[in-house]
Amino acid sequence: MSQAPQTPGQCSGPSSQPDPLDQRLSQNLAGIKHKLVVMSGKGGVGKSTVAAQLAVGLALAGHSVGLLDVDLHGPSIPRMLGIKGHAQVQEEQQLIQPVVLDEGLRVISVELLMPNREASVIWRGPMKIGVIRQLMGDVAWGGLDFLVIDAPPGTGDEPLTVAQNIDGAMAVLVTTPQEIALADLRKSVDFCLQVELPMLGLVENMAGLVCPHCGGQVDFLGQGGGQATAQKFGLKFLGRMPWDPRLMAAADAGRLVDLLRRDQDEAAPWRLMVEQVRDLLGEKRS
Ligand SMILES: Nc1ncnc2c1ncn2[C@@H]1O[C@H](COP(=O)(O)OP(=O)(O)OP(=O)(O)O)[C@@H](O)[C@H]1O
Ligand SMILES: [Mg+2]
Repeated sequence: MSQAPQTPGQCSGPSSQPDPLDQRLSQNLAGIKHKLVVMSGKGGVGKSTVAAQLAVGLALAGHSVGLLDVDLHGPSIPRMLGIKGHAQVQEEQQLIQPVVLDEGLRVISVELLMPNREASVIWRGPMKIGVIRQLMGDVAWGGLDFLVIDAPPGTGDEPLTVAQNIDGAMAVLVTTPQEIALADLRKSVDFCLQVELPMLGLVENMAGLVCPHCGGQVDFLGQGGGQATAQKFGLKFLGRMPWDPRLMAAADAGRLVDLLRRDQDEAAPWRLMVEQVRDLLGEKRS
């Protein structure tokens, strides 16, 4: 990584040279066709799960895909995908090499750059902005069809940095069906409108489960709130993802990728989500 992170728009005098990180950022991002930031106002609704499933599904469909985890406080992506190693830094060009998974999916998270993964790091606002800009500008993505970005909950520095630094980024919003989550979702919609971040669509996650005893549908977080909110704001609805204990177990075991790799029932709603995203972005080559 380069040395001194700067906040976006930081003024360093009228005669200053263009910021080299700004230049690397725009060069790097110019080679990426679609940039999707997965976000929600509320924590724990499944953003990282949706980001990982989307990235894996797009890679399995034959696209070149990067997955960037900008959750600096609680990065989940390396664990969910079972990534044990560290990202390497190419000494000569000072570029970070993403970890590459079997299907060619390139992954970067700040956790993959930390010598001790269990240690907590206290990130202050300007530092966060600098690190996220470096993760976007200094990673050797190498040209991509899709960059999927996993954001932490809320409407803070992380999604703001993405919105302000990535031309052409689009938001994928995630919610669970109950009113408390929907209230936070409405704030996310408002955030996107304020920072002029276009919204590709909305995923409703943890939308009921199939009872293992009677086979009936149990809507433990209510029903249909996400779809109704999507309709209200004119957002595309990207689907209802049921709560599935097999998915949670796969994520806990670092085997989330297996869900879509194997052509099984539990993958079906996720596959539909991926297909809809490809369709909306004109990438469905049938
Ligand atoms: N559809 C689902 N079925 C079963 N478990 C799920 C589902 N979606 C997410 N989970 C589980 O719920 C937990 C929270 O999911 P996840 O980490 O993706 O949420 P998040 O919104 O990214 O959280 P945070 O706000 O902390 O970043 C994880 O243990 C994950 O495996
Ligand atoms: Mg997360």
